Amino acid sequence: MYTLYTALYGNFARINPGVFLRHYHFSYRLLLNSIIGSKRKLYTFECGKLSGVRIFGPKFIPSNLYSDNMQLLVNIDHIATLRNARGEGVPNPAEAAQVCEQFGARGIVFHLREDRRHVNDEDVVRLKKVVQGKLVFEMAATEEMLEICTNTEPQISTLVPESREELTTEGGLKMKKVADHFGSHVIPRLRTFDIESSLFVDPVEEDIRLAAEVGADAVELHTGTYANANPDDKQDELARLKEGADLARSLGLKVNAGHGLNFFNITPLLKAIPYLEDISIGHALISDAVFNGLGNTIRRMAKLIESHNTFPNGT
Ligand code: PXP
Repeated sequence: MYTLYTALYGNFARINPGVFLRHYHFSYRLLLNSIIGSKRKLYTFECGKLSGVRIFGPKFIPSNLYSDNMQLLVNIDHIATLRNARGEGVPNPAEAAQVCEQFGARGIVFHLREDRRHVNDEDVVRLKKVVQGKLVFEMAATEEMLEICTNTEPQISTLVPESREELTTEGGLKMKKVADHFGSHVIPRLRTFDIESSLFVDPVEEDIRLAAEVGADAVELHTGTYANANPDDKQDELARLKEGADLARSLGLKVNAGHGLNFFNITPLLKAIPYLEDISIGHALISDAVFNGLGNTIRRMAKLIESHNTFPNGT
């Protein structure tokens, strides 16, 4: 039902942004909490969901409601980075993906790099098995990756430039360099397998126009420059992103965003571009999760160790 809705909504909304379907759901837990008071959460439980689709008419939709379609997609590469630091099995990216989805992520992103520095081929197979929402295969458009991607059949492939020397993706695609290849080979091949193509680009007019010309379904705007800008330049970078997003949208492209986003810089972006769709965030979330979980983990281990004290109080 949800997939059907998003498919309908995504396409419908792009054709005519004024008319759209709005999904609503809330759990009985929320309903019960509001009836018996949030302080008594312990006595409530989740027993199901009410959901449905409402159709709104064209004239009465405030444009900010259109942002209903924004979705968090979590990039789990750095779970794999941590796993690889010891070369053992934990933490497992597929397990992390399940937790992310359980707590509100609408999908999972992974970047299979040529050098397999984080996620590896086995992870890809496991992720394909467990991910319930959108699975996004981020990759350089090489023959090897196209082969793995079309065998995996994710919903979306995000195409990025890749260089061995970089620590992370450093900027968007230079579309002029890749346009012919993408238009004649890469995007048609992905489309044969029903895989949506999203091109990672800087908010640069030429790159966005070429993304539309080569037949991409979406652009993912590179938000790294905005994220890393010093306070004096932030507004300018945000304006560049908005201008790029407006252009992409006017060309019929779905507009996604990602790179360097965190709890501090995301709100201005979402407010400035209310029709953004997939928001891809990785490093900041995994980093934040460490500190959200570290205290509990230490308490648990400290208690466990101390519960085995043989000589209490140093006696
Ligand atoms: N989008 C793309 C295309 C990326 O390459 C990355 C980094 O792997 C992200 C989003 C996520 O960036 P971050 O880890 O900084 O949130």
